[in-house]
Amino acid sequence: MRHLLSASDLSYTEALSILDTAAQMARVSDGPIKKLPTLRGRTIVNLFFEDSTRTRISFEAAAKRLSADVINFSAKGSSVSKGESLKDTAQTLQAMGADAVIIRHSASGAPQRLADSEWTSGVVINAGDGTHEHPTQALLDAFTIRKHLKVGVGDLSGLTIAIVGDILHSRVARSNVILLSLLGAQVILVAPPTLLPLGVENWSAQISYDLDAVLPHVDAVMMLRVQQERMNDFFFPTAREYSHYFGLNSDRLALLKKSAIIMHPGPMNRGLEITAACADSARSVIVEQVANGVSVQMAVLYLLLAGAPNENVESGEVLS
Ligand code: NCD
Repeated sequence: MRHLLSASDLSYTEALSILDTAAQMARVSDGPIKKLPTLRGRTIVNLFFEDSTRTRISFEAAAKRLSADVINFSAKGSSVSKGESLKDTAQTLQAMGADAVIIRHSASGAPQRLADSEWTSGVVINAGDGTHEHPTQALLDAFTIRKHLKVGVGDLSGLTIAIVGDILHSRVARSNVILLSLLGAQVILVAPPTLLPLGVENWSAQISYDLDAVLPHVDAVMMLRVQQERMNDFFFPTAREYSHYFGLNSDRLALLKKSAIIMHPGPMNRGLEITAACADSARSVIVEQVANGVSVQMAVLYLLLAGAPNENVESGEVLS
């Protein structure tokens, strides 16, 4: 059995297989019968120690569309607020017979800890750990880029994608650099030096401090949320100055190629990293990213779980 902890867990072939399977799942979601019986009788736990809107509800929708039973756990309102450890929580869920645990945690490495432990026998999927990784977000971003710019087939070679803003605190950026470059895209990180992580020069990406110079050359621009909750220091002088240099606004929209798309993983700080006019423009695929997330997460659950021994599931050849 394998887990999905990092975008680097995926080979080129596996990543493309997930995107292709997701495209099939999207066709099911668009059809008259939205539900597949594939994971009937399997239990999937959404284990969320950190706040989430999109990732949690889209994983729930994905699991339900595959007919799995879903248990939603969020730390708020649970015994975690009484000091219960990850180990005790995981063992409780194991007692419920979890076949897959989708975990979001503020500590980088928590999904790895769970996968390496005896605490659960289920498949572990990382839904965002600290500032480390968020592999399903990268997969849904790659899916969205491919759908728009490659008519939904093949890899992402020939495309240039800018990831802009708070790279330092972004697990989305880290997973996207790994996955998009694996799929052949050229990635440019645009941020103030204070919001770039140590060692970023070793990532498979170019670095720029000049958004206006980069925009005319990109096929997609991915804006990142300024993660104030992870900032215990001053990373830029004022919000106004940040927006001036690194925010997406109507003037900058005019610099983009006609075919370029605007992305954001959400939640957005409207008016800080992106203006409302850009977020709601015809070039924005931000809402569609969420819908694509369901298809991608269905594909991941299917490929990871359908390979494991169980009664009414076809065998999955990709990640088994
Ligand atoms: C992101 C996350 O939680 O890492 N959002 C998401 O999963 N869609 C990005 C963020 O919090 O800014």
